[in-house]
Amino acid sequence: MVHAVASLPLQESEDIVSDEAFFDPFAGLLGQNTPSDDLWLGKAAPRYTSYPPATAFQEDLTTENYRGVLEGLSPEEPISLYVHIPFCQKLCLYCGCHTSPTQQHDPVDRYLHTVHRELENLATMSPRSRRISHLHFGGGSPNIMSEKDLGLMIGAMARRFDLSSTQEIAMELDPRLITKAQARVLGMAGITRVSLGIQDFDEDVQEAIGRVHSFEQIAKSCYLLREAGIEKINFDLMYGLPKQSPLSVAKTARLASSLTPDRIALFPYAHMPHVKKHQKVLEQFVLPGPHAALAMERAARAILREDGFIEIGMDHFARPSDSLTKAKETGKLRRNFQGYTDDTASTLLGVGASSISQTTDFYFQNACDIDDYAQHISKHGLATTRGLHLSSEDKFRADIIQELMCTLSVNLEKICTKNNFSVSTLAESLEALEPFEKAGLIQRDGYKIKLLTAHRMAVRVIASVFDTTQHDDKTPVSRTV
Ligand SMILES: C[S@@+](CC[C@H](N)C(=O)[O-])C[C@H]1O[C@@H](n2cnc3c(N)ncnc32)[C@H](O)[C@@H]1O
Ligand code: SF4
Repeated sequence: MVHAVASLPLQESEDIVSDEAFFDPFAGLLGQNTPSDDLWLGKAAPRYTSYPPATAFQEDLTTENYRGVLEGLSPEEPISLYVHIPFCQKLCLYCGCHTSPTQQHDPVDRYLHTVHRELENLATMSPRSRRISHLHFGGGSPNIMSEKDLGLMIGAMARRFDLSSTQEIAMELDPRLITKAQARVLGMAGITRVSLGIQDFDEDVQEAIGRVHSFEQIAKSCYLLREAGIEKINFDLMYGLPKQSPLSVAKTARLASSLTPDRIALFPYAHMPHVKKHQKVLEQFVLPGPHAALAMERAARAILREDGFIEIGMDHFARPSDSLTKAKETGKLRRNFQGYTDDTASTLLGVGASSISQTTDFYFQNACDIDDYAQHISKHGLATTRGLHLSSEDKFRADIIQELMCTLSVNLEKICTKNNFSVSTLAESLEALEPFEKAGLIQRDGYKIKLLTAHRMAVRVIASVFDTTQHDDKTPVSRTV
């Protein structure tokens, strides 16, 4: 069954959007907001960091299946690694990531011990596939690791895998934890790119979302990182948060841009208090509704464009010299579990609690709970608890959705030919696109579909027209804006 737009799973937004919680002074008032926005604004759809989305994973895949796939990996092809560190010093009230707060080092230490065992097992089970294309540490806040732990982690990677042709070693950082000593260790360890969570520079917004840091603190972090030889710096910004306005978000975008980051991710706040209970606290404030949030997104986008950033996909901005811009220009832009990337490796192995591995034919997800994860590793050596064996139709639809998410356009005929599917398979999806075409959100030329750039935030809803997976009611799917 195709999710026609009218039957998109609005469940979640209906769950989360109580009329009292959201305020939309911009509904119908803004010149830029057109009736066509009403076709998608406020609707829920997956972020399509994979297709099928993780919400469609099943519990019938085991560590044995994963082991079999690891053993069969080709020695010629490089793989990428993602390591998840699910700890932060304090939980930010908006946070939707898989993480837990801790002030102690012990839980982090115990967890890292398990991660080292998993890495060792992966290296033993895939002995021929050691060449690493991209290495990414995400979280949580990986820089909660002590300097010694950071050194040990990278050292262990270098011993177990071949990093000699690795294009990028990236790490997500909580800027509030960055010190001169930490920046030096990261530089010496060979980290080439870091992403700093910023979200917003406005003090009232920061106070409301429980995440306070000054502009000077971020400026100093950037200075320390650059001084340590880390040249590539990304920022995360967010809109749709309490106390924000288009003007305040535009000011944040300008301040962020003044620190000359290489990339900026501009995320819509995903409010899912039924899954992330701590987010409920934010309902004491009035949360911006979809029209207000879209006005914020457009205000920030205008600033970033004016400051010379190139728009990448639906929510990224990069300097013209950045590798993401080059990937866009050369048709090599991809989307994986970390978002937009220039990593073209077809195998990504996820390490740590909740991490997802992706191979040509499978997705495997590790146990999400930290204790479950540790038990799985000690009992089975690996921690797979769910995943998916991709059918040929899944791969076909994944190609369509990937192309749409990366280029905001798709040549359906080409993808049908490549995957050996008839265009008639897409009849229902094409019918579901008609209202979008009539409203001028997309242009159709035969089987070529193009989303107009001004409407790029509609891409998740457009992509969902090609999504035949079933999402159950418990799984988190957030509002697109
Ligand atoms: C792992 S954090 C970044 C590193 C570090 N933990 C920090 O916050 O500075 C990843 C990013 O996800 C984004 N994020 C977290 N919760 C979100 C939510 N509910 N909706 C949208 N984006 C969210 C934020 O922009 C955040 O910076
Ligand atoms: S936003 Fe970053 S620092 Fe804050 S709780 Fe989430 S992962 Fe941790």
